[in-house]
Amino acid sequence: MRGLDGQVAVVTGASSGHGRATSLRLAEEGAAVVCADLRPGARKDGFEADLEVDTHALIERDGGRAAFVECDVTDEASLRAVADLAVERFGRLDAWVNNAGTFLGLKPLLEETPDQYRTTMEVNLDGTWYGCRAAVAKMLGQEPRGRSRGRIVNIGSVAGEFGQADIGGYSASKGAVHNLTRALAIELAPQLINVNAIAPGYFPTGMNRVFWDDPEALQAVEELHPLPLGVPADIAAGVAFLASDDAAFITGTILPIDGGVLAK
Ligand SMILES: NC(=O)c1ccc[n+]([C@@H]2O[C@H](COP(=O)([O-])OP(=O)(O)OC[C@H]3O[C@@H](n4cnc5c(N)ncnc54)[C@H](O)[C@@H]3O)[C@@H](O)[C@H]2O)c1
Repeated sequence: MRGLDGQVAVVTGASSGHGRATSLRLAEEGAAVVCADLRPGARKDGFEADLEVDTHALIERDGGRAAFVECDVTDEASLRAVADLAVERFGRLDAWVNNAGTFLGLKPLLEETPDQYRTTMEVNLDGTWYGCRAAVAKMLGQEPRGRSRGRIVNIGSVAGEFGQADIGGYSASKGAVHNLTRALAIELAPQLINVNAIAPGYFPTGMNRVFWDDPEALQAVEELHPLPLGVPADIAAGVAFLASDDAAFITGTILPIDGGVLAK
């Protein structure tokens, strides 16, 4: 499949985990990918085989088009600069993936500090809202390509759809991302901008190293998922679909990629 030939995509949090797998997949599908992150290097506690090679370098090594741009999603100006770079460098902006996120560990309500709560909200929710603003500001200024002027994919979580103990701040941030997605989908439909989200289950990324390193915690994660556990490439496949023309009539959807967690 080369469903994104000639298109231009931005992925935030592109250096590690889901953002890295997604960037590689979008490039495989033919997109030029702007890899935006705090730093170009992958998290060293991640599970990728080639951690020492930066995402944009991997794409270029495989003959794709990519650029790294340093950004902090909690800073709107930084995200606007990412959008500017995408258009200056590659000519337009077809897809924007709000993937950067943080999870500071399981914490009961009285143990999660206000600083941890605020950081979680700032990165996961504010960062997604700023990202949507930066993307839409650019997309509105361009002619539609086929049936769409642009596509936004937000990375939420199963935690945003159901209740679990000791994850209140993170769940609240992701639930808000899901409803931001639905609201913007309605608002932007007349402009032919699709806004969807993916709700991942638990995956092996640096963010979740704490679960994978503890056999009891890993067993609990496995028991939560009806199917055997997935890999970041499963999320990447969902993003590639939602960013493609095949998803032109899909907007406001929260797509669980969770091995059946939310079906229970
Ligand atoms: N891994 C999972 O099981 C899982 C489950 C549900 C949802 N998610 C979501 O998927 C997304 C990616 O998670 P992951 O597991 O790949 O995490 P990760 O920690 O492995 O990678 C996150 C990347 O985002 C970057 N980042 C963090 N804060 C940033 C900021 N302020 N500005 C720019 N970049 C920043 C990091 O540098 C890192 O490269 C997140 O939104 C996360 O909440 C992950």
